[in-house]
Amino acid sequence: MRVKFFKDKDLTSDFRYNRAMKKLNKHIILGVTGGIAAYKSAELLRRLQDTGATVQVVMTEAAKEFITPLTFQALSGRAVRDDLFDSAAEAGMGHIELARWADLILVAPATADFIADLAQGRAGHLLSTLCLATDAPIAVAPAMNHQMWHNTVTQQNLSQLADRNIHVLGPAAGHQACGETGYGRMLDVPDLVDSIEGIFANDLLAGKRVVITAGPTREALDPVRYLTNYSSGKMGFALAEAAVEAGAFVTLIAGPTVLDTPNKVERINIETAVEMNARVLEHVEDCDIFIGSAAVADYRPSEIQTKKIKKTNDTLTLELIRNPDIIKNVSALKNKPFIVGFAAETNDIIAAAKNKLVNKGMDLIIANDIGRKDSGFDVDSNEVTILSEEYQEAMPLMSKKLLAKKIIEMIAKEN
Ligand code: C5P
Repeated sequence: MRVKFFKDKDLTSDFRYNRAMKKLNKHIILGVTGGIAAYKSAELLRRLQDTGATVQVVMTEAAKEFITPLTFQALSGRAVRDDLFDSAAEAGMGHIELARWADLILVAPATADFIADLAQGRAGHLLSTLCLATDAPIAVAPAMNHQMWHNTVTQQNLSQLADRNIHVLGPAAGHQACGETGYGRMLDVPDLVDSIEGIFANDLLAGKRVVITAGPTREALDPVRYLTNYSSGKMGFALAEAAVEAGAFVTLIAGPTVLDTPNKVERINIETAVEMNARVLEHVEDCDIFIGSAAVADYRPSEIQTKKIKKTNDTLTLELIRNPDIIKNVSALKNKPFIVGFAAETNDIIAAAKNKLVNKGMDLIIANDIGRKDSGFDVDSNEVTILSEEYQEAMPLMSKKLLAKKIIEMIAKEN
């Protein structure tokens, strides 16, 4: 007998697996419920990781009858969550935080019983509670006997899920574990991964060119010190990701941050406001939309000392000069793009934002209260009001990622 040794290339030659290598870099909760297809969820987890996803597995009690939590723990490198009342796990990342952490909840396999729970909005266990508490998209991959699939109640439950924009992936038809044939097999893993790509993608800004500024700027005082602010860049990076997912070509001009560059984004790193201004003006020509989400320093030291400033006196006076106003400069262009800005304020938020909208020639402004702990600088959530000259919409507290999607939807309506 001849044994063929496969090279790595051969092992990944299935084009469906190659497609799955696209980097999505998402936080995914993989919900596993109690059906025989649960054995495929371990493979699904690995393929999701190939897309750059960080996967947190959440199992129902019934799922543990089919596959052990240890399998998922070993593959994901994270302890499986299975209990709403687990005080140790809750002390780490509580279920509400976990629901917020997710970019997607994917339940695969989803049993008829779980689908019924979801349709009714029940919260009797951790997975169904997470589905109620999240603002991320939810997808279910049904897997059940074909009679159960065709049952009127199951079909009614599924149409309720579809009405609530819950994605139903599959099922496929074919041979079933129960020995019968028909609809009810969980979709194959590569097809599931492909469908997930589709959940994140839309064509709201197809073919548009978008330039985004993000993060803080850093204004040097001397070789060791600089002036800066608390901006993390999270909002601007989330906008870049949402714009790419909406089909745009995105250039992200970013101040110093620790964030990873979103997939398919052209990133240009800068330090100072003057550099940011120059790079924006280089790239903004021919762009359709400009989003200024950077916290640009309004002033910089009038001189950068070449030697470290010594503590010789009791007081030290710094002379600062104005930085260029980047949004105003973009606004002054002959072919100005659609301009979106931010107003980070601590008081009279709406009035200040309206002023800025007009003074800086913006089309849309997002006003946020940076005095709050759960909103604004360096946190993952934001509560904002979106204003244009014609309208004003107060948004509830939500993750910056979801807010970015909503802002992109609003921009798309005007473009
Ligand atoms: O700092 P200010 O509140 O004026 O910022 C409002 C908007 O203007 C933000 O979108 C910010 O990115 C932008 N900005 C700018 N250039 C500056 C200061 C702020 O583009 N020098």
